[in-house]
Amino acid sequence: MNTLKVELGERSYPILIGEGLLHQPELLRQHVPGRDILVVSNTTVAPLYMASLVEAFSGSRVVEAILPDGESHKTLTTVARILDVLVANRFGRDCTVIALGGGVVGDMAGFAAACYQRGVAYVQVPTTLLAQVDSSVGGKTGVNHPGGKNLIGAFHQPVAVIADASTLATLPVRELRAGIAEVIKYGLLGDAAFFDWLESHMDELLAADPKALSHVIQRSCEIKAEIVGRDEREQGDRALLNLGHTFGHAVESATHYTRWLHGEAVGAGLLMAASMSQECGMVDGAQVERLRVLLERAGLPVRIDGVTPEVALEHMRIDKKALGGRMRLILLRRIGESFVTADYPEQALHRTLDAYFG
Ligand code: NAD
Ligand code: GLY
Repeated sequence: MNTLKVELGERSYPILIGEGLLHQPELLRQHVPGRDILVVSNTTVAPLYMASLVEAFSGSRVVEAILPDGESHKTLTTVARILDVLVANRFGRDCTVIALGGGVVGDMAGFAAACYQRGVAYVQVPTTLLAQVDSSVGGKTGVNHPGGKNLIGAFHQPVAVIADASTLATLPVRELRAGIAEVIKYGLLGDAAFFDWLESHMDELLAADPKALSHVIQRSCEIKAEIVGRDEREQGDRALLNLGHTFGHAVESATHYTRWLHGEAVGAGLLMAASMSQECGMVDGAQVERLRVLLERAGLPVRIDGVTPEVALEHMRIDKKALGGRMRLILLRRIGESFVTADYPEQALHRTLDAYFG
């Protein structure tokens, strides 16, 4: 097992990464405070992993909240259900919420923990690649609104992240590919050597090779932990983690969260961000092509049919990264170097949307 740390003063916490962690009751007990525990999961993940988790806490009061599966359920209504369970069981401020599942469960359980009695402890137990490399770390919690993705939420850091990579054995391959999009994002935004590594190890990753998976979980969490440690509330560099996301959120919300998985939308968004950077005269065409090839090898979309450029732009504008009415975007100087800017030619944005939507 490897342990990383998110350094945030008194809110610092460990990220434990390894195989079979859900079968280590001592370790689980060590990182879950409180005697009253609510485990939040969904109808897909609970039958697979709830039993081993609950077994570890046989001396505690453990209550389960099993949510319907899917991004379309990431709503205030579903979070209200979690809160109802906490209230119905008279859980106090010293309880702990455990999020067992992918990013959807993690974002909602974390948000419920942020709201309940103005904030209780929670532990992330991510079971998708996307959640293990990204969403379980950093304390962004929340839900979607019909008007836009993740529009309602709170920063609330977990007290621990326990990433058991062996849970990925049951993950559908499409979900694995969606997680790989966020992994590619890390190489692209700040680590050219990691991008190179992904180019030479994509086949092992797609075959869910445990060594390759554990390397990408480790490296992605290192990069994310370092950025979050510097800028917890996204006043600056944390925005780099949104590379491809403004385009990607438009893809998701314009298709009502049903056509494309979050990671797939981010994959297409990465290429759009790179291509727009080329339109702005920064990244060269050969690097954009390298990215396109890598995304295609990972089985990720490289253009979005069925959404017009105009509709895509409308959805981009509502994305919460807009500041003072002007959309901020993350662009690339080269593979491994990105920056946040609201200063770009509108024409470059329009040309990019015209090239990738339609
Ligand atoms: P998800 O939570 O919907 O999980 C994907 C699917 O895999 C679901 O059907 C789920 O039930 C299933 N699943 C989960 N673990 C499994 C396992 N081990 N075996 C079999 N099936 C399993 O999707 P996701 O890709 O994990 O997360 C996407 C969400 O994360 C989005 O809502 C996105 O906005 C959010 N997100 C949040 C952050 C953050 O910082 N908070 C960062 C990135 C993404
Ligand atoms: N996924 C973006 C962030 O955590 O900041």
